[in-house]
Amino acid sequence: MSASPRGTSVTLLTAIVRAVSEPLPIAVLVSGTGTNLQALLDSVHGHEAQIVAVASSVAGAPALDRARARGVSTAAFVRGDYAGREQRDSALADWLAARGARLIVLAGYMELLGGAFLERFPGAVINVHPSLLPAFPGVRAIEQALDYGVKVFGVTVHFVDAGVDTGPVILQRAVELADAADAADVLAALRPLEHELLPRAVRLIARGAVRSDSANPRRTLVAPPPDEAQARGPG
Ligand code: GRF
Repeated sequence: MSASPRGTSVTLLTAIVRAVSEPLPIAVLVSGTGTNLQALLDSVHGHEAQIVAVASSVAGAPALDRARARGVSTAAFVRGDYAGREQRDSALADWLAARGARLIVLAGYMELLGGAFLERFPGAVINVHPSLLPAFPGVRAIEQALDYGVKVFGVTVHFVDAGVDTGPVILQRAVELADAADAADVLAALRPLEHELLPRAVRLIARGAVRSDSANPRRTLVAPPPDEAQARGPG
């Protein structure tokens, strides 16, 4: 789940892109177990990207242990510790900016982020969501899909805008589960997709391979990594 001011320009993302040889400083926001954070730590961290900070909305979140185990700075920003959401967002944004984060990755972050937060990181906040958006945004996405009776499930990585899980899609992948009846089973099937797609999106952004389609800002254009483009050959 995620939110911020609608219309944040994805084109501004180009401003955060670094030279390929220099890892992109990223921060990861979490609330729970942190398996997506782990996937990032095990793949892009120290390569295309450097995880410079991990912040949680929950003080004892296991995800924080995963970050600490790799020597990454951690902090908890618990809503109840602040006068309101805006104050919490402001403290969080200050902390992330002080650590030099240029891309903010929501990986199981279960809090809404207000407009002021996203203005601090324009076009540079992404989220992973366990459904094929625009279907089933918000909380309990898998349960929503099961209740609806769908046969195809999936994962979306998207930019964050003003709505709840409404920002431009970066990557999506589907999986057919025609007989699915149990949320835990669906989650188990979606996990590997999430753990592949989220690092892939970070890698693509770090390489400057994601941009907005000027003809339709809802649409992101994703250039294949050079190795894949080479394998495909001309045309
Ligand atoms: C993931 O399923 C993600 O799609 C959703 O929250 C879950 C977080 O899992 N937004 P984890 O904390 O990364 O294990």
